Amino acid sequence: MSSTHCNVVVLIGGNGSNLQALIDKQSPHYTLAGVISHRPEAYGLERAKNANIPTTVVSHQAYHSRSDFEAALVQALDNYQPDLIVLAGFMRILSPDFVKRYPGKILNIHPSLLPKYKGLNTHQRVLDAKDQEHGVSIHFVTEELDGGPLVAQVKIPVLLNETVESLTQRIHHVEHGLYPTVVEWYGQQRLKCQGNTVTLDQERLKKEGRELTLIDMQGMVS
Ligand code: GRF
Repeated sequence: MSSTHCNVVVLIGGNGSNLQALIDKQSPHYTLAGVISHRPEAYGLERAKNANIPTTVVSHQAYHSRSDFEAALVQALDNYQPDLIVLAGFMRILSPDFVKRYPGKILNIHPSLLPKYKGLNTHQRVLDAKDQEHGVSIHFVTEELDGGPLVAQVKIPVLLNETVESLTQRIHHVEHGLYPTVVEWYGQQRLKCQGNTVTLDQERLKKEGRELTLIDMQGMVS
């Protein structure tokens, strides 16, 4: 990464609303160099095209093995020369070999307060457990699924009569503020990850990452 330029490649598989939030941010500190989808029908591809961002489809269904799929993914990624890979609705598990190629360079957003509720159906699991709070986490990706070091979390209260639908909507709203904020830190070279150590402005982050509120993010992203 040169001192002024950070090439970001976004990996998607669906609607791409987080991609849209990154597009809308229009930061001078990073360029959205490409979008790769593992599903050809992902609506996020349209969003990228509308923003004149190059796209590539690497359909997981076109490959017989995970290693063949990942070899194609590596080739597609390397064409865009990524400084940072942003997972945003990319629904494939990445192998340790893949992750090791890009140490400290892959971010993921997950709709729970990790380490709680790794994996899928997080909103339903929060409701089933009658939790009083829920939230969003961003972490660097390591070989452990949803287990890499945390960068930031935002908590929201679980309201009375909350449903999976209402939580989905409220969590998305948080995600759309949080992801651009964290990618901006990386683009500004303030955020770094070495092994399991994450630093922001040279200060080592605590286990939960930086705790932010929606109000913090409005200040930072505007
Ligand atoms: C987000 O809720 C994110 O937390 C999860 O996948 C969803 C992607 O949504 N990893 P979108 O495609 O960005 O709208």
